[in-house]
Amino acid sequence: MIPRVAADVTRKEITEILKALAKNSSELISDLEKSFRFQLGFKKSFFLNSGTAALYLALKSIGVEGREVIIPAYTCGAVVEAVLLADGIPVFVDVDASTFNISLEDLKRKLSDHTKVVIAVDLFGNPVDYYALREILESYDVYLIDDAAQALGAKYDNKYLGSFGDFAIFSFGLGKGVTGGGGGALIVNNNDILDKVEEFYSQLREPSSFENVKVLYKILSMFLFSRKKLYGFIRERVERLTVHEDQELVNRILKLFSGDSIVKDKRIKSFSKISKFSAAAVLGQIARLDCIVNRRRVHAKYLLSNLNFERIKVQECPKLGEHAYSRFGIVLKCSSRKTVRERMIIEGIDVEEMYSYMLKIYEYVNYMPPNATMLCKNILCLPIHGRLELEDLDFIAATFNRVIGSHKS
Ligand SMILES: Cc1ncc(COP(=O)(O)O)c(C=O)c1O
Repeated sequence: MIPRVAADVTRKEITEILKALAKNSSELISDLEKSFRFQLGFKKSFFLNSGTAALYLALKSIGVEGREVIIPAYTCGAVVEAVLLADGIPVFVDVDASTFNISLEDLKRKLSDHTKVVIAVDLFGNPVDYYALREILESYDVYLIDDAAQALGAKYDNKYLGSFGDFAIFSFGLGKGVTGGGGGALIVNNNDILDKVEEFYSQLREPSSFENVKVLYKILSMFLFSRKKLYGFIRERVERLTVHEDQELVNRILKLFSGDSIVKDKRIKSFSKISKFSAAAVLGQIARLDCIVNRRRVHAKYLLSNLNFERIKVQECPKLGEHAYSRFGIVLKCSSRKTVRERMIIEGIDVEEMYSYMLKIYEYVNYMPPNATMLCKNILCLPIHGRLELEDLDFIAATFNRVIGSHKS
């Protein structure tokens, strides 16, 4: 069965990750900082145990208590969670129906003197139109955070994402383009807040031995089960785990909205510096980042030229943008997503629905953003990862065209 996502980690890199057993983490983190500086051009980067922790660190350093933080409505719930953990007030802005990223029109309506931060998310690796965004933000006293959790290796105007905004974050969670079995990075471009970041970062604990072992286990199992022959054995487990994690995330967000301090403290205590195994894994993949991303771009190009566009819509990339395709999200125009998904799985291709759970959050805040709601209900992500071969892509495109051709809502 073709996995929905896969770890693009080589055998050689697995050996390096295992060698981290005998290394200390500060040495690996320092190597990672150097590779982010010299390869990607980021002068100041900090490495934590998740993208959420990185986002939280940025928001805490800015200080958003009681202030509005604008976020795109169609995104990973972790963004909402980080804002609530930092005591900010999340303000949802609808997304654009063509790029699936923050709608600049709706943003103009929601920006005000109460806004402290705008978080721009490069959804599925698709860059936000940063020059257009900056032009809008120019007349406001706000900070810009580029949430590039899904967009490591994507570019805008020939620069890697991470270079735009006062801060940027990346995630190395399972299923990301570059995976460390968990982990995240915070890039600081605004030197005025650097001291605050350094202070908060220095207070973060090291991961425990148990947490380190868990990360290693995740990397090794992801490496092993990314194979077509083995993935079928664990697909249902992956599905159950994803449903469970999404449910937990929604529960936490709803509790945080209602001011539950126990949930908040527990979550903040879970944040730490990055595990040495994640650091070793990311280090290996950064060395061949362009190669990893280019492979996914080739896969996307192939799908784009072989899918039947009468019944689907794909993300548009801004003129200066270069998509990293951590996901290949498509909107089904007239087929039932549930039926299409079930049929694809029966045919041996695992496809995902993304962020449908955000509907529960919109309900809670009593705001139904039209485009984001449509995406929550109609998006399906086809496999795009680096472990796919040409024959897999042929199979995915042919099967998908056949399935949507025969199924209407
Ligand atoms: C846009 C976005 N922001 C933040 C995060 C949080 O990253 P992590 O899962 O590493 O905490 C994610 C994770 O999927 C994400 O997609």
